[in-house]
Amino acid sequence: MARASLYQAILVRRSVRRYDSQPLDEATLEQVRALAHNVQPLVPANYFSVRLHSEGVRQDLVTLLGAYGRLITSPHALVPYLQGTVHPLTDLGYRVEQIVVRLTALGIATCYIGTLPHEERARDLLGLPSDARIGALVVFGRAAETMGGRALDGLVRCVLGRAKPPVLERFFFLERADCPAQPPASLRPLIEAAVRAPSACNAQPWRFLWHDRYLSLFVLRHNPRYGPGAAQRYNLYDGGIVMANITLAMEALGMQGRWQLLSEETLVPPHPPAWLPLAQLSLAW
Ligand SMILES: Cc1cc2nc3c(=O)[nH]c(=O)nc-3n(C[C@H](O)[C@H](O)[C@H](O)COP(=O)(O)O)c2cc1C
Repeated sequence: MARASLYQAILVRRSVRRYDSQPLDEATLEQVRALAHNVQPLVPANYFSVRLHSEGVRQDLVTLLGAYGRLITSPHALVPYLQGTVHPLTDLGYRVEQIVVRLTALGIATCYIGTLPHEERARDLLGLPSDARIGALVVFGRAAETMGGRALDGLVRCVLGRAKPPVLERFFFLERADCPAQPPASLRPLIEAAVRAPSACNAQPWRFLWHDRYLSLFVLRHNPRYGPGAAQRYNLYDGGIVMANITLAMEALGMQGRWQLLSEETLVPPHPPAWLPLAQLSLAW
């Protein structure tokens, strides 16, 4: 993909699993490192770090993913991790997605590779501190131009139900949580950007409620697609990813707004018990 503007990059990004075997040149890798060091935090007190791996990536993927790892052929991977206790997974998703979208804007292909179900093993394999949280690696490089490469990504998108454009009313609710709706024109570009966000197993756990001039973000508490156990906490990581898409869209469109992370105790509009309140965006019009 050629370079794209920031907003366009959010809309067009797709996960790529087959890559050109040629590594990126050193100047481009330097740009990647710079991007990784310049992300905006959600919780400034959390410590975020990113390592760039160019050796042994394919073997690490096989160790982490088994046979499926052999299908992913990237020459490089980012290992982003976070140390801290305040909303760590949401903050991690928020920071990593900023890197991913900006790589897309540079014409670099990416794919998240989830590690939450075996986080301890990933920490050991990658030599991370014992208190590091790692929700996913990000593999990256130039997309393979071969038919086989495109076919694999097309197949995965079909299997995961990502082949058609997202239906906004599935995710957006106006004034009340039982009123699915099209977003008003002023919010539409943000919601369009949000629903293009990647999510683990394409679970798309996000729900947005526009009420009293606040955009509340919820994630579904339980998502069968993630699978059992620790994988259920991808909802927090995916929530951070979707928040980053909205922040980047605001930057691209010259809009101002501020996220506030929520807890179970924060007063939020009435919502179904299956929805976990995650954050609220106040927009300065
Ligand atoms: C946290 C996370 C973990 C993911 N893990 C994997 C993975 O292990 N293997 C894989 O092929 N894709 C993985 N993906 C990619 C998703 O399947 C993909 O984002 C989703 O199907 C939507 O497709 P898109 O990114 O092309 O829009 C992951 C995505 C996220 C956000």
